[in-house]
Amino acid sequence: MALPRSVERRRPPRAALKTALANEIEMKAQLEIQNLTKRFGGLIAVNNLSLSIQQQAIAGLIGPNGAGKTTVFNLITGFSSADSGGILLEGSDLSGRSPHNIAKAGIARTFQNIRLFPWMTVLENVIVACQIKCHGSFFQACLRTPFVRQEEKATKEKAEKLLRQFQLQEKLNYQAKNLSYGEQRKLEIARALATEPKILLLDEPTAGMNPAESNDCVELIFNLNETFGITILLIEHNMNVVMSISDKVFVLDHGVKIAEGPPEEIQNNSEVIKAYLGDHYVNHA
Ligand SMILES: Nc1ncnc2c1ncn2[C@@H]1O[C@H](COP(=O)(O)OP(=O)(O)OP(=O)(O)O)[C@@H](O)[C@H]1O
Ligand SMILES: [Mg+2]
Repeated sequence: MALPRSVERRRPPRAALKTALANEIEMKAQLEIQNLTKRFGGLIAVNNLSLSIQQQAIAGLIGPNGAGKTTVFNLITGFSSADSGGILLEGSDLSGRSPHNIAKAGIARTFQNIRLFPWMTVLENVIVACQIKCHGSFFQACLRTPFVRQEEKATKEKAEKLLRQFQLQEKLNYQAKNLSYGEQRKLEIARALATEPKILLLDEPTAGMNPAESNDCVELIFNLNETFGITILLIEHNMNVVMSISDKVFVLDHGVKIAEGPPEEIQNNSEVIKAYLGDHYVNHA
């Protein structure tokens, strides 16, 4: 994979974020990772990682294969527990919380290897996720009280609305496994949004997409950020995508953060180029 030396940014950072990026103390971090370490036996997959992400930012997390990016997502979302260090969401410690609880607190994710319920319909996949916001008790559900019936109706409408926004309204009753790859990735994002997150973690959302699907996906990420104010943390190997939409990029190599900064700075960072392409390229560039 080549690291483009100069990718044109599609949008300027918003004024508020620009100021915050220039002087981070002005804006409180929404998500803060502090000295996070995760070992798998003798391998340190994430090594004393600290980073912070401001509200409504689009942040990129990049690095060569095996750098520890997905492990960071697993730690943030409670799918894996850290050996040391902490993760704060708006100042609250997420340590020891379950994935369900973290999703309820406002962090949603998609997976590098799509994880839908393949035999369920498109609509059902989203309805299941919507239920994280439902308030009816188990007994109310068994008794099918008017409150539960009303909540079910509202949930279905919400799921249908979300799927319309993703142009999946024609496929509500398809089994998820029968969607195209690009559509499955979109459905995974729709499902994540059904939990009404403050922060959305996307693990290689454009992987396997053709250029047109990839462009649509970039537009979608922009809209989620601009229209709904959702903070985005994006793992992405497609440098054109990550450099064009990120306000800030973090680079991991062998679990260690080797750089962070605005895309234009990261593209010209010799440590980053070396991590991707090796010493030879840096010496002869
Ligand atoms: N459950 C696990 N058990 C043992 N080792 C693991 C586990 N999960 C990840 N690793 C190892 O940790 C390292 C980081 O893996 P991770 O999946 O986080 O990398 P990545 O940056 O997401 O890579 P890619 O770009 O290929 O997706 C790799 O060496 C991987 O083999
Ligand atoms: Mg990964």
